[in-house]
Amino acid sequence: MNFKHVAILGAMPEEIGEITNQIHDKKEIFYGDLKVIQGTWNDVERKNKILISVAWSGWGKVSSARAATRIISSIYLGEKVDFLIFTGVAGAVSNTLRQWDIVIASKLIQYDMDARPFFEKFVIPAISKDHISIDDKLLKWTQSSLENSKKKDLNLRDFGTINIGKIATGDKFISDREYLEEIKLQIPNLLAIEMEGAAVAQVAYQEKVPCVILRTISDSADEEAATSFDIFLKKYKLRSWLLIECLLKNL
Ligand code: ADE
Repeated sequence: MNFKHVAILGAMPEEIGEITNQIHDKKEIFYGDLKVIQGTWNDVERKNKILISVAWSGWGKVSSARAATRIISSIYLGEKVDFLIFTGVAGAVSNTLRQWDIVIASKLIQYDMDARPFFEKFVIPAISKDHISIDDKLLKWTQSSLENSKKKDLNLRDFGTINIGKIATGDKFISDREYLEEIKLQIPNLLAIEMEGAAVAQVAYQEKVPCVILRTISDSADEEAATSFDIFLKKYKLRSWLLIECLLKNL
């Protein structure tokens, strides 16, 4: 991949982790209350320098879409953003998934979009689509970057299986198995559920910026979800940078 300026976005500070300690020549830009930190990351092994813009958006579709729009319009050292990575945690929908398993979204659905009778359920009127697909080449690159790094790097041992599939997004933290079962019935083969991915993917699609949405399973969106999520996040924040680093190292 030949990207020069990569935007990295998460919903919470824990999801972007210690990236801000890993970049140099830092500067901050404020868009209202949104802080975007820019800097350069040096890939020592490959003697490669990558320009980075990083931010955390806050939870939900509006906050993440707003942050995605802002961050991809930022310019650093004269370069426009040419790749967007959204990274963070998600609730498992598929019962094959466990905490620390990774899901790379191939298709993203806004499960709370319902403009019937004008549009079919889930269709996003602005783009006349009921899902956003991620570019196949980018998916394969993300998968192989993570798989190769996982084989080599002991620091990644906590992470589990690497999966590619459907992610659903909506403005609700799901901690109710019955509610989740209803969504599962409407969207077959769903792997994970979260609150930002499909909003960010819509912005990237409309703005024609390549993007990947990468999620690590934190909970099972069931009655224990809030507790699992809280405990998981404390551990995850120490490791979230490692996933981002895997991708940057393979650019
Ligand atoms: N992100 C992580 N866990 C989640 C859940 N259970 N519901 C919605 N978003 C989440």
